[in-house]
Amino acid sequence: MENAKLLIIDDEPEFTSLTSDLLGRHGFITERVHNGLDAVQLLRVRSFDLVLLDMVMPVMDGIETLRRIKADFPDLPVIVLTASENLGTAIDAMKLGAYDYLTKPVDWDRLKIIIDNALLTGSLKAEVSRLRSEMKEKFGFDNVIGVSRQMQHVFNSVEKILDSDVTVALYGESGTGKELLASAIHANGRRRNRPFVAVNCAAIPEALLESELFGHEKGAFTGAHTMRPGKFEQADGGTIFLDEIGDMSPTTQVKILRVLQERRFQRVGGTGDIEVDVRVISATNKDLEKEMEKGHFREDLYYRINVYPIEIPPLRDRREDIPVLVAFFVRKFHENSGHNVVGFSSKAMEYLINYHWPGNVRELQNVVERSILTAGQGVIQPEHLPFMVVSQQTHPAMSNGGLDWRNVIGLSKNIVPLEEIEKEVLQHALKVTNYNMTTTASALGIGRTTLYRKIHKYEIPVPRFAMTARGN
Ligand SMILES: Nc1ncnc2c1ncn2[C@@H]1O[C@H](COP(=O)(O)OP(=O)(O)OP(=O)(O)O)[C@@H](O)[C@H]1O
Ligand SMILES: [Mg+2]
Repeated sequence: MENAKLLIIDDEPEFTSLTSDLLGRHGFITERVHNGLDAVQLLRVRSFDLVLLDMVMPVMDGIETLRRIKADFPDLPVIVLTASENLGTAIDAMKLGAYDYLTKPVDWDRLKIIIDNALLTGSLKAEVSRLRSEMKEKFGFDNVIGVSRQMQHVFNSVEKILDSDVTVALYGESGTGKELLASAIHANGRRRNRPFVAVNCAAIPEALLESELFGHEKGAFTGAHTMRPGKFEQADGGTIFLDEIGDMSPTTQVKILRVLQERRFQRVGGTGDIEVDVRVISATNKDLEKEMEKGHFREDLYYRINVYPIEIPPLRDRREDIPVLVAFFVRKFHENSGHNVVGFSSKAMEYLINYHWPGNVRELQNVVERSILTAGQGVIQPEHLPFMVVSQQTHPAMSNGGLDWRNVIGLSKNIVPLEEIEKEVLQHALKVTNYNMTTTASALGIGRTTLYRKIHKYEIPVPRFAMTARGN
């Protein structure tokens, strides 16, 4: 890596100036300090790509210096230089996260190779994490896919409340991804290691209501052979997802209201109050304000539930998401079924974009899977699509007025290149490591099996020696 910035830490000025000279000839920019304290301070104000660290130094020894560097900059590669009689400390240094070590007197050629490899590992790691975060930005949030302005807006709203306990209400037609989003909110918030418990509020039979929500004691009623905690208790410390709240019976509404107000309840047949700490996320495809006007939904409950409303728009209002979702489902279905379908033809994609999707993303997912099964292999053509999709087009005159999917934002920029970028990173890494599989895999933070799979997938040409070399 040209112009990489190296920090040399050694208490012997002669050694640092020699090292600095030699490395300078290779195009590295070097800076020298003569004790660990100065080094730690310098690193806080100036950025470096790599550190060369002596082990035996006055003031602060190499191990302590390393510990502090790693605490501040865990990804900064540190190469340890040590006298051969101090091999023990070099091993300790490796345990603390040093990239590698060399004994003095230094073999300069080896040092150069180690530096090159360390820099490569570092830059590839940075590249991969940049790609990852970019992917998240472009494609959505966790497994919730969306590139449309509307979905980006949803993601922005979500991001603001991830680490709080605010009560969230998700609105949207059936199949828009309310449950998916609720679980993504949980999985990315600080309650992620605690349970996510979903309750379908519309489907609990009245007779079981209390016991479902609050649990029961042993012998509370016929058939209660053991104590059973209810949904609220199961969710303690985590998130309770109250689904279909617009279809709750009046009795259920009363019970839910009480527990939301008091955050405590009793098990059926129990006497003591149980207190729980739960985050509440609710969802409905109904318009709660209308339900309230009609007298179907309690006003006091509405205000408890509707603290932070998020609306997921129907798919037909954000058609830019369709190609991205299709690509996602093709890939996901491939992982489960191993089909041989490559993708959708542009004509078939046009039909998908112009359909009105009353069942939203769920319907799209079903259509993608069915079309893949119908086509069996190759490229999906319009005749593989369900009749419903082809016959009910929002824009019947496809060539004028219909959306041209190639112009749909996101697709040309996002989907294809993402794989291409991965392929490029792989090719680059393989070349610079001279097709050393172990080094490439560790540089990319993936296992060797995954690396081989990807090489195969992208059909990257690999010299024969690399595939057969032992221990490579
Ligand atoms: N943005 C999205 N990205 C990826 N998958 C999605 C997205 N939205 C929905 N899905 C998928 O569509 C299906 C339906 O989603 P989900 O069950 O969350 O919808 P819902 O809004 O809860 O629907 P309902 O009101 O009918 O319960 C699921 O398989 C889900 O994974
Ligand atoms: Mg749902």
